[in-house]
Amino acid sequence: MYTNLDELKAECLSCRRCQLCETRTNVVFGVGSKSAEVMFIGEGPGENEDLQGEPFVGRAGKLLDDMLEMIDLDRSKIYIANMVKCRPPQNRDPLGTEQDACAPWLTEQIRLINPRIIVCLGRIAAMRFIKPDFKITREHGQWTQRDGRMIMALYHPAALLRDPRRSNDKLRLRAGDGA
Ligand code: URA
Repeated sequence: MYTNLDELKAECLSCRRCQLCETRTNVVFGVGSKSAEVMFIGEGPGENEDLQGEPFVGRAGKLLDDMLEMIDLDRSKIYIANMVKCRPPQNRDPLGTEQDACAPWLTEQIRLINPRIIVCLGRIAAMRFIKPDFKITREHGQWTQRDGRMIMALYHPAALLRDPRRSNDKLRLRAGDGA
């Protein structure tokens, strides 16, 4: 139990709970408002995030920023974190053991920020936060109530970049533009 997010972050930055610490450049703890009502949870840092120490700063992050802007939000009003805080090599899916090792950091982030809404970005976060057999194609956008919070999952922005047909018209235009 930590009393505040800065204390938690300081500890997390020296984490060696799993093998991902061997290959990381930076721990990507999370960014945003410490009292955010909405928290977005991605999968894990990619190359740009690993280099800069901040979540969603590459192409997928640009699309996420566009998605936020469309609903009048930006990074200062929300909080963004990932399931795992260190980059999995070659951007592979984080292993179950890595997710388990990292989960206590995220659990504490959620407890301290206490958001009313959690938005899972992609299947990996949805499988952990909503249900293990979550099907993103069928169940994205559906709300669930859990521990007094509303939770739902959206397609991961990287998946929208790969297949813009999954997004709505405005986003499709931007993703198609190479946003
Ligand atoms: N994809 C994620 O899931 N998280 C990031 O921070 C970047 C890309």
